[in-house]
Amino acid sequence: MRTEDAPLIRLEDYRPSDWLIDTVDLDVSLHPQKTRVRALLALRPNPEGQPGAPLKLDGDELVLKSLAIDGKPLDASVYTVTPQALTIPAPPAHDFTLTIETELDPSANTKLMGLYRSSKVYCTQCEADGFRRITYFLDRPDVMSVYTVRLEAAKAEAPVLLSNGNLVAAAELPGGDRHFAVWHDPHPKPAYLFALVGGALDHVRQDYVTADGHKVELAVYVEPGKADRAGWALDSLVRCMRWDEQVFGRNYDLDMFNVVAVSDFNMGAMENKGLNIFNDKYVLADPQTATDGDYASIEAIIAHEYFHNWTGNRITCRDWFQLCLKEGLTVFRDQEFSADERSRPVKRIADVRTLRSTQFSEDAGPLAHPVRPRAYKEINNFYTPTVYEKGAEVIRMLKVLIGDDAFKRGMDLYFERCDGTAATIEEFLGCFAEASGQNLDHFARWYEQAGTPTIVASGRYDAAAKRYTLDLAQSTPPTPGQTEKQPVVLPIKLGLVGAKGDLPLKTTSNAYAGDGLVVLDQPSLSVTFEDVAEAPIPSLMRGFSAPARLDLDLSDADLLRLFSADSDSFNRWQSLQSVATRVLVAAGKPGADADVLAATADKLGEALRSFLKADGLSDPAFAAQVLRLPAPADIAREIGGDVDPDAIFAAHRKLSTAIGTALLGELPGLRGALAASGAYRPDAASAGRRALRNELLGLAALAAPTEAADLCEEQFVAGDNLTDRLAALAAMTLIPGERREALIARFAKSYAGEPLVLDKWLMAQALIAEPGTLERVKTLMQHPAFSLGNPNRVRALIGGFAANLTQFNRADGAGYDFVADIVVALDKTNPQVASRLLGSFKSWRMLEPGRKRLAREALSTVAALPNLSRDVADIAERALA
Ligand code: PHE
Ligand code: ZN
Repeated sequence: MRTEDAPLIRLEDYRPSDWLIDTVDLDVSLHPQKTRVRALLALRPNPEGQPGAPLKLDGDELVLKSLAIDGKPLDASVYTVTPQALTIPAPPAHDFTLTIETELDPSANTKLMGLYRSSKVYCTQCEADGFRRITYFLDRPDVMSVYTVRLEAAKAEAPVLLSNGNLVAAAELPGGDRHFAVWHDPHPKPAYLFALVGGALDHVRQDYVTADGHKVELAVYVEPGKADRAGWALDSLVRCMRWDEQVFGRNYDLDMFNVVAVSDFNMGAMENKGLNIFNDKYVLADPQTATDGDYASIEAIIAHEYFHNWTGNRITCRDWFQLCLKEGLTVFRDQEFSADERSRPVKRIADVRTLRSTQFSEDAGPLAHPVRPRAYKEINNFYTPTVYEKGAEVIRMLKVLIGDDAFKRGMDLYFERCDGTAATIEEFLGCFAEASGQNLDHFARWYEQAGTPTIVASGRYDAAAKRYTLDLAQSTPPTPGQTEKQPVVLPIKLGLVGAKGDLPLKTTSNAYAGDGLVVLDQPSLSVTFEDVAEAPIPSLMRGFSAPARLDLDLSDADLLRLFSADSDSFNRWQSLQSVATRVLVAAGKPGADADVLAATADKLGEALRSFLKADGLSDPAFAAQVLRLPAPADIAREIGGDVDPDAIFAAHRKLSTAIGTALLGELPGLRGALAASGAYRPDAASAGRRALRNELLGLAALAAPTEAADLCEEQFVAGDNLTDRLAALAAMTLIPGERREALIARFAKSYAGEPLVLDKWLMAQALIAEPGTLERVKTLMQHPAFSLGNPNRVRALIGGFAANLTQFNRADGAGYDFVADIVVALDKTNPQVASRLLGSFKSWRMLEPGRKRLAREALSTVAALPNLSRDVADIAERALA
């Protein structure tokens, strides 16, 4: 389908469904190629819909086998059916049942939407609109039904049969080859939360008693032989369930909670009611096959999907425009959980890094859209960093603005008032307006307006009057379809840092809300602080209090002082990032002055050296974040136009190498002090020590390659965990030569048969910033560890390459052509993965003219092809618009 032909779906066109479906009885007989589905739907005219309206059910590639109303087969003259729709123009005017039989081929389902097989396991994925690939249905989130599901399968093939809710019956069928299970979910839910699983799976389990005294059986199901890797996920589940009781007052509401890991999955995981289905990458962990980062992501994603039980399932979305209602809020909840489980400042820094690299770049390019989009052609293309990560920032700002107590009352009110409904952002915000007594109409603009605001700030100190005046102004650049921008409500947490720390804040300004919070809700304003005893250094946007850019011209000396003196950890980290960013922006432009870079490198190197010596060991996780410079892609985004990736990369390399050189003397001592004692443990403190130790290894690889290559080899051999061994490989990829190739080969050998580990091996190679990488990646596509059919493999190798700033953006355009060709090939089997990959082009407009032209040509070639999926066509069209 050409996307011009695809209808534009608009928020303002929302109408309630004319029909409702109160109950769904599904009878599914699983078979690899011929799965039979009988759906019994109890239909009822919606009092809020059009009386006498036709019944039009959604389908997608469906084959209808039979159809009956109230048990009587339907004459072909009274309905029309295509693979995409089943229409009954004149249905009964009262309640009735519809029985629909369809036949599916799960083995042929390469889109991984609807019912498919993932290495012999039957599983489903229905968000956003996959249920219509199982049966004809009113596939929209505001139609909520109670499901009873009977699953039948060959015992040998699928000894485990799972669906949503509670197991109510199970038995062998006569003959003994086949068996069945019946699941009932008492909570009405939209079709996108339906799930089933069938297969030979191992599991780990644990009993759990909720705070309100309900006994729950928890289980994590994995491929046979991998149960010993499921413990961390189960442990994380127990911890996040407790946390949700304590922090949000939310108890679980079924007798069972199951998590299933599958190896072919388009996204990270899915919150199906009582039956979360996961990409196995976010479940499986043991020290040999998962890194510290994997342990942290598993904990976060297990929590995310579990938290959806209330924010997503009990309260769902009225329509897909409200996606951020569940996603932004649930990301906020999982971020808070991880912050409580680990280090809050370090978690905040990591989240802001992700926000800037993924969301700020989206906001700055042609795919920018509001947190709540107004129109879409393909909803799958709106599971974006803007909806998720910026959506979470909006919730965080709300909390800062109305305060913790009002925020809690607002959440409680939301849970009470909207439980069991399909809600909107307006209803959500209404709860907080009521709980806080504040008008949130202006704040709501965060949901409507795309683009990253810039706050321009400058301060003046009047020594005679002991007065400090802060001038603040905001602006938001135009984004597609939104040329005129309005001011938004920006909470700016701040402090004035004096010689002995924070100075008291005294002001009569209306913009000052107390507790170090200034609210900038106009184009500009000034705040004057009185009785300021000394000239302060302003520390603005503490904790990154708004998803905005800050333009504040502090000297390197002032920033370095904030680094050592700021009471806010986030801004301590930010201050050094700002020093590095400024110099890299300057040095990454044509005709840059090399001396400036060298001078700043000296200052940064010295600051880091004394910091590491003085208290690098007191909080290694924080120190690791401090050591990690902004990435070249961050610098490219800061420069914003006429970008030459090679120049930026060269400047970045120079600065990193200089810093590494400054730290060389400390390296052996620090690495020694940070070395592990005892067996691997995944906790945050141990992970922090490894992070710092490995960050130092990376710097050594640049500053002293030969010695560092020894260290990498030693660490690879001695390492008892994947974190250290992978870090050795990653550092070695910075050192061209035979030793690198030998370690790459050795790594592959030691992890043969471990696809998730080999994904990291593929990605480490795809990220090498050298001209040979494209050929290397092409060769790796022939490696047995790679497959175009598995999304994780594609994301690792091809996605990794597309994230390689210098090589994807090769001056000859070969990187663009390569990725575009793969997008086109992949589109035939898996449009969702293909369109995500095409999203790698999102920053093409900021490039220098030569690359820009080549990128546009590659995009145009894709866009011009016939028979593109709606997913890919939509991205291509918007990227070029
Ligand atoms: N709803 C899932 C989540 O964020 C993401 C997802 C969307 C998964 C669509 C699959 C398909 O938790
Ligand atoms: Zn989610």
